[in-house]
Amino acid sequence: MKIKNICCIGAGYVGGPTMSVIAFKCPNIKVTVVDINETRIAAWNDENLNNLPIYEPGLSDVIAEARGKNLFFSTDVDAAIDAADMIFIAVNTPTKTYGEGKGMAADLKFVELCARQIASISKNDKIIVEKSTLPVRTAKTIQTILDSTGNGVNFEVLSNPEFLAEGTAIDDLFNADRVLIGGNQTPSGKVAIQALVDVYSNWLSPKQILTTNLWSSELSKLTANAFLAQRISSINAMSALCEATEADIDEVAHAIGTDSRIGSKFLKASVGFGGSCFQKDILNLVYLCRFFNLPEVADYWEQVIKLNDYQKYRFAKKIINNLFNTVNGKKIVFLGWAFKKDTNDTRESAAIYVADHLIEDGANIHIYDPKVTESKIKSDLTYLWELNGISENRISQKLTQVFVYDKVIDVFKDSHAIAVLTEWDEFKNYNWKNIFKEMYKPAFLFDGRNILCSEELREIGFEYYQIGKVK
Ligand code: UDX
Ligand code: UDX
Repeated sequence: MKIKNICCIGAGYVGGPTMSVIAFKCPNIKVTVVDINETRIAAWNDENLNNLPIYEPGLSDVIAEARGKNLFFSTDVDAAIDAADMIFIAVNTPTKTYGEGKGMAADLKFVELCARQIASISKNDKIIVEKSTLPVRTAKTIQTILDSTGNGVNFEVLSNPEFLAEGTAIDDLFNADRVLIGGNQTPSGKVAIQALVDVYSNWLSPKQILTTNLWSSELSKLTANAFLAQRISSINAMSALCEATEADIDEVAHAIGTDSRIGSKFLKASVGFGGSCFQKDILNLVYLCRFFNLPEVADYWEQVIKLNDYQKYRFAKKIINNLFNTVNGKKIVFLGWAFKKDTNDTRESAAIYVADHLIEDGANIHIYDPKVTESKIKSDLTYLWELNGISENRISQKLTQVFVYDKVIDVFKDSHAIAVLTEWDEFKNYNWKNIFKEMYKPAFLFDGRNILCSEELREIGFEYYQIGKVK
């Protein structure tokens, strides 16, 4: 079976870049990315490639090449479903904020809506691909919904989780370590798997394409994210011990990372991991383990999240303690708001939680991030406070403690402390001598990413603090 027409529902951080690369690499396949959000689709169609809704290095070049040829962005979901022989579901699956499983389980309402819409529109057989991260055995739910309309159409469900990391998405898609395709081990399931293998074979070699049963594929995505996040929580746990013992976390990470069984990647101590996936997927994993009556397994993975919360809190506390136990009325500069460099995504960013602690203690937070807008920053904080049941009045008050800059000019004047929350490269090249002159003394600098040069900063006169190191 040869795929000629692909539709993807969900033009977000996953759907947008993934489909752009498929279109770019497969000129014979027409790819239509649809979304219910009109503003987002308009941004994907903007003539000016600087206005794309997500910032991702290399993305605009890919879009410039494919858009309008065989890559289209549209809000006409029904038409795209009808025309497609393969449909990717890449809608968001956030943690539930209500009802059964609140705060833990993945909210699958958008996925279910997609399945119902596909079932009601389709007039010919289609392959449905789960791209969103889903709890293991969701494919069964999707299949049941699809098969329940009784319109005689055959649907084959595949799982094809996305492993790209934001900030390096295009490179990750071009040179994937592997793509994973799970499907039913039946004759029609195998035909569907092969159809998707053929799509990826346009640019990846056979050894980069793994095929498994549906459940292994669904669970592998959760497992990969859990293992990655666990490494960060492990190194962050050690960073606290380093600060107590005068060991140096970067030296420890290097020493253990040279053991080929451990490996050197994902051992960078930080203020805590963020992003749309790690926390959500681990909470979902914990929920699943409890559901399957495996409390010890659930507790084990939950600790990864608890340690991450502790790391964010520990950083905020370090700032407060060093500023003579109060930050009330003090100006604290935040460099970075995104959850990592080279993205404008702020979901679950450590910055949000650190800011929350400091604002509660009375600080005025002055924020500069090269790619994140004022409205995004304020909506991130408002969302957290609303979730925590804080009143509208109190939220308005708290927001008067937040100041956002779209340029780095004037940010540092009369500040008491600076905190680095994201590892943007440009921060390393600032004129730290001049910045020091503008600040109140002692001038505190808390590097939540260990990216700046400690000798140089201490030489200038900064009280410079890092993660997992003492002076
Ligand atoms: C993805 C995955 O799909 C998620 O499961 C994974 O764990 C994280 O990454 P992402 O692309 O980052 O989600 O989400 P987002 O940027 O929010 O994009 C989802 C898009 O789907 C949004 O633009 C939203 O408008 C759209 N959507 C949502 C629909 O088009 N229809 C719906 O019914 C719901
Ligand atoms: C992650 C997975 O890497 C990816 O495979 C999956 O598809 C989606 O989730 P992403 O969240 O985009 O990708 O970025 P990632 O590079 O994994 O970083 C996640 C967070 O961990 C960031 O906040 C980052 O700063 C932090 N991190 C990462 C560390 O603190 N230390 C590290 O060593 C690595």
